[in-house]
Amino acid sequence: MAPVPVQVADSAVSSPFPQSPKTTGPPVDQTNFLSDRARTTEIDGIRGLLPLETPDVVSFLAGKPNPATFPFGSITLNLKPSISGRPAESITLDGADLDHALQYGPSAGLTSLRNWLTALQERVHKRTPGNWTVSLGSGSQDLMTKCFSAVLNPGDPILVETPVYSGVLPALRLLNADMIEVDVDDQGLSATRLAEILDSWPADKKKPRVIYSTPVGCNPSGCSASPQRKLDVLQVMQKHNLLMMEDDPYYYLTTPLIPSYFELETQVFPNAGHVVRFDSFSKLLSGGMRLGYATGPKEILHAIDVNTAGANLHTSALTQGIAGSLLQHWGQDGFLAHSEAVSAFYKERRDVFEAAAHKYLDGLATWVSPVAGMFLWIDMSPAGITDSYSLIRTEALAKGVLAVPGQSFYPSNRKSPHVRVSFSIIDLETKAPEGFARLAEAIKDKRKELGLE
Ligand SMILES: Cc1ncc(COP(=O)(O)O)c(C=O)c1O
Repeated sequence: MAPVPVQVADSAVSSPFPQSPKTTGPPVDQTNFLSDRARTTEIDGIRGLLPLETPDVVSFLAGKPNPATFPFGSITLNLKPSISGRPAESITLDGADLDHALQYGPSAGLTSLRNWLTALQERVHKRTPGNWTVSLGSGSQDLMTKCFSAVLNPGDPILVETPVYSGVLPALRLLNADMIEVDVDDQGLSATRLAEILDSWPADKKKPRVIYSTPVGCNPSGCSASPQRKLDVLQVMQKHNLLMMEDDPYYYLTTPLIPSYFELETQVFPNAGHVVRFDSFSKLLSGGMRLGYATGPKEILHAIDVNTAGANLHTSALTQGIAGSLLQHWGQDGFLAHSEAVSAFYKERRDVFEAAAHKYLDGLATWVSPVAGMFLWIDMSPAGITDSYSLIRTEALAKGVLAVPGQSFYPSNRKSPHVRVSFSIIDLETKAPEGFARLAEAIKDKRKELGLE
C-alpha cells in the first residue's frame, strides 16, 4: 500500500483534538515491566533482519513466494451507503497496495496502516511522537493475550477490575495469574478501592505491576470512567509504579469521546510510558475481520511483536490491506464521522432498550445507564436475588429468556446478583420487551421460591 497522506490536526483553534504538551524528562525504559520470558526471547534470524531490507540493498533473505504465481489480479470493495451518510462507493486494491496485501509482511503490521493509525492516535489522544508505537493484531484480543504474556511471569499477580471482560480470563488462567479483583462502582474501576488494596499490600507478597481495565462502556458493567476518575487511578498507578492495560474497544461508541488513559497519562507521568492501549475495529468495521491495534511503550510492543512473529508471523495482510484502503479513502475525518454515526446508532438502540427494561424491571432491578457500549448490567438485588446463575439456569430458562449470569465475569467465580443483557443486535420492537417481561416473571418466581413473596 502506498504511504497514506495523513491529515493531523495541528491547530488548537480549528481542531477539536489539540495536542497535549510534550512529555518531559529523559525517555523511559519500560523493559522493567517485561516478564522473564519476554526479556529473553527475540525475533528469529530471518524476521529480525527483514527491517534492514531497503531498495538499495540486495536481499537474499526471505523465502517469500513469488507473487507471479498468485491468482488475484485486483480486489474491488463495494461499500454500501454508509451509516454516516456517504453514498455507495467502490475501492479497488491493485498495484503495490495489492502486492503488499498478498505478501508476507512485518509482524507489527503493514507500515502504511501503522503510520495511518499512529497519526490517528496522535490526533485523537493528543500525543506527540515519543517512546510509543503502534502494532496490529488479529483483534485486540490477540494483542492483549500477547501483552499478558509479555508482562506477567507465570503466577504473577495482576489487578483486574471486576466484573471483568470474561474474554481475558482464559489467557490469564493459562499464565496461572493471581487475579486481584478490584470492584467497580458506577464509574468503573474504583481508584479508592485500588489504593486500599495496594496501600495494604502484604510486605512479603509479590506486588502487582499491572492493572487491566475496560474504561469505556465496560463489558459487562456498562460503566464509563470520567476523566477525573482516570486521573485518580493514574495517581494511584504513579504511587505504586503500575502499568495499565487499557482495553478500549468501545472507546468510539460514545459522543463526545472521553479522554483516554493513554491521553491523560502525560498529565501524571512526566515521561508517560505507563499505558498500553488496545483499540479494536470489531465494533466499527467488522468483528469478523479480526483487526485491532495496540499503542504503547516501544519495549512492550516489541515483546508483543516478537510473540506475533512466533505465533502467526503477522495478522492477515489482506485484512490489513482492506482496512487500510478504506481508511485511506475515508481519511481521519471520514473515520471519525463513521465512528460518531455508529455511536449515535447504538445510543438510539440503548434508549429504546432501556425504556423496555424500565417498563418491566423497575422495582425489581437497577442498572447504571451506559453512555457507551452495548450492555446493561442489571442488578437484581432490589428483588432479593443474590445468585443470578441459579435464576438463569432455572426460572429464566423455564420462562424462555437468557442472559449472562454475573458470576461469569468474576475470576473467583463468586455469586452475583447481576445479569448482562446486550442491546447491540436484539430485535427491539418485540423480542426486547418480551425478554424483559419474561425476566420479570422469572424474578417473581424466584422470589416466591425464596419465600420473599
Ligand atoms: C472488553 C472487550 N475487550 C476486547 C474484546 C475483543 O475485541 P476484538 O474483537 O478486537 O478482539 C471484546 C469483544 O467483545 C470486549 O468486549
